[in-house]
Amino acid sequence: MKRNVAIITGASQGIGRATALRLARDFSSIVLAARNGDALKEVTQAVNQAGAEALPLALDLREPAADKTLVDETLKRFGRIDALVNIAGAVPQIDLMEMTDAQWDDGMALKLHGARRITIHAWNALKEAKGSVVFTSGNSAQAPKSAFAAVATINAAIVALARAFAERGIQDGVQVNSVLPGPVLTNRRKTYMEKYAPTHNMTFDEAMEKFPAQDGISRYGQPEEIADLMAFLVSPQAIWMTGSAVRMDGGEIKGV
Ligand SMILES: NC(=O)c1ccc[n+]([C@@H]2O[C@H](COP(=O)([O-])OP(=O)(O)OC[C@H]3O[C@@H](n4cnc5c(N)ncnc54)[C@H](OP(=O)(O)O)[C@@H]3O)[C@@H](O)[C@H]2O)c1
Repeated sequence: MKRNVAIITGASQGIGRATALRLARDFSSIVLAARNGDALKEVTQAVNQAGAEALPLALDLREPAADKTLVDETLKRFGRIDALVNIAGAVPQIDLMEMTDAQWDDGMALKLHGARRITIHAWNALKEAKGSVVFTSGNSAQAPKSAFAAVATINAAIVALARAFAERGIQDGVQVNSVLPGPVLTNRRKTYMEKYAPTHNMTFDEAMEKFPAQDGISRYGQPEEIADLMAFLVSPQAIWMTGSAVRMDGGEIKGV
């Protein structure tokens, strides 16, 4: 039997889009949040075709009021929230020595504070539904590099934040976990490699080929593989999991 209502942020492309399509198999209603309304229209059609009702909400989740709009519109239309999957993220990938305060603030405004505020606004509804939350971190949280310092710092903060919500969730009946993807083939990854290649005397194709081969299973992850993990974490099969940080990175990070 399908569960009821899932909210997915960052649903217009990449891991978020793949998660929306995957959860359409398990949930009857999916709320899709991101800025790009045209892309959300396309995802809405794809979710409908996959058998779920979709509600697209074009919002800039850096804005403090957006989380309230997202939760209020969801409750107005569907009356409950069973799962919240926080995926939206666009932290600038700039060297530690060059990144400005404004760029740090912008990265945190979306990926950390946006996800935190949505989770707080959705909490009572999640509590009523005995629901689940997943935060998207990244494996850089466990292996920070100077070239990815902001991403790594914010990803580590996301893991800590998810654990803090999980601790509250034990008394409130809400499960909270985080996912730490490694290199996944999405537009975000391609944009980064377009910048990386010329600064390392490579063509784009050479950089794309070399990068995932460095330290793990020698290919990029697919968004659908991360989506399957998200689907497991919000499923009844994961009912005893909370406060976990689950890395899925083709074995790239060697630490425990
Ligand atoms: N791809 C990887 O290799 C990788 C690795 C580790 C972790 N991650 C994490 O996984 C998540 C998804 O990454 P991805 O590769 O799928 O990225 P992506 O393809 O760039 O997608 C990012 C999503 O976030 C949304 N978004 C960006 N800014 C937003 C804003 N201000 N308000 C609302 N939505 C916004 C984008 O939609 P709009 O542009 O329409 O707003 C899009 O749907 C991110 O948190 C990323 O840090 C990715």
